[in-house]
Amino acid sequence: MKNVLITGVGKGLGKELFKSFTSKGHFVFGVVRKASDVKTLEAMAPENSRVIVADLASDTSIGLIREAVQDAPIDLLINNAGIAGSSYQLHHVESAEINNLFNVHCLGVLRTVKALQNNLLKADKPTVLNLNSRLGSISRQSAGVYDHLAISYSYRVAKAAQNMLTNCLRSEFRDQIQFISLHPGKMKTEIASSDADADPAEVAHRILSHFETGRLVEENGITELEKEIIPW
Ligand SMILES: NC(=O)c1ccc[n+]([C@@H]2O[C@H](COP(=O)([O-])OP(=O)(O)OC[C@H]3O[C@@H](n4cnc5c(N)ncnc54)[C@H](OP(=O)(O)O)[C@@H]3O)[C@@H](O)[C@H]2O)c1
Repeated sequence: MKNVLITGVGKGLGKELFKSFTSKGHFVFGVVRKASDVKTLEAMAPENSRVIVADLASDTSIGLIREAVQDAPIDLLINNAGIAGSSYQLHHVESAEINNLFNVHCLGVLRTVKALQNNLLKADKPTVLNLNSRLGSISRQSAGVYDHLAISYSYRVAKAAQNMLTNCLRSEFRDQIQFISLHPGKMKTEIASSDADADPAEVAHRILSHFETGRLVEENGITELEKEIIPW
C-alpha cells in the first residue's frame, strides 16, 4: 500500500481520486479549501485518510501540508486542485484573473512540491502527477486546434506555465522523482468545457490502475492515458 497526497478532493475528479485510492487501501492525504469538507471525506475512509485544510493559493499551505504529513514517505503526489477562468477574449480579460489562475495552477504545484520534496525523496519510485489540460499545449494552440472554443486566456496561460514548471522540476530531479503532465479528458465536472464527455469516476479509476501497474511514466508532452501524448 502506498502513501498518496491529492489536492482538491472536495469535488470533481479530486473526490473521485480520493474514493478510488482509499478504496484500494492506499493511505490518502487529501487537501481541501473548506473545513466543512473534512468530516464527510474522513468518514469515507476513517482508517486510511487524513484531510488537510489548506488554500494552495497561499504560501501558508506549505507549512500546513508539512505539519500534517510529517516525515511519511510520499509515493504519489497528485496536483489536481484547479479553478476555471470566467472571462473570454482580450477585451474582457482582467490581469487579476490571470494572476489568480497562475497562482493556483502553477504556484500551487510549486508549493506542494516544496512542501513534500523530502517526503518524495524518501519513497521508492516517487511520482508527481500534475493535472494539466489539452488547452495548456502551446503547439496545439499555435496550430489553431482550439480556435472553435472561446479563448480563456487565464486557463491556457496558467496551464502552459505549469508545463514549464513540470519541465524545470524534471531537470532538477532527474532520476530521483518523475513529473508527469496529464490531460484527464474533457470531464463532466463543475469546470467542464462546452464539449465535455468524460466521467470523472472513470478517469480516477484509470489513473489508479496505471499507478498500481507502474504505467504512470514521463512522456515528452502532456499525457492523455490510453489515448495520446499531446505535444507541449
Ligand atoms: N474538467 C475537465 O474537463 C478538465 C479538463 C482538463 C483538465 N482539468 C483539470 O483537472 C483538475 C480537476 O478538475 P475538476 O474538473 O475536477 O475541477 P472541479 O470540479 O472544479 O474541482 C476542483 C477542486 O480544486 C479545489 N481547489 C481550487 N482551488 C483551490 C485552492 N486554492 N486550494 C485548494 N483547493 C483548491 C476545489 O476546491 P473547492 O471544492 O473548495 O472549490 C475543488 O475541490 C483541474 O486542475 C483542472 O484544471 C479538468
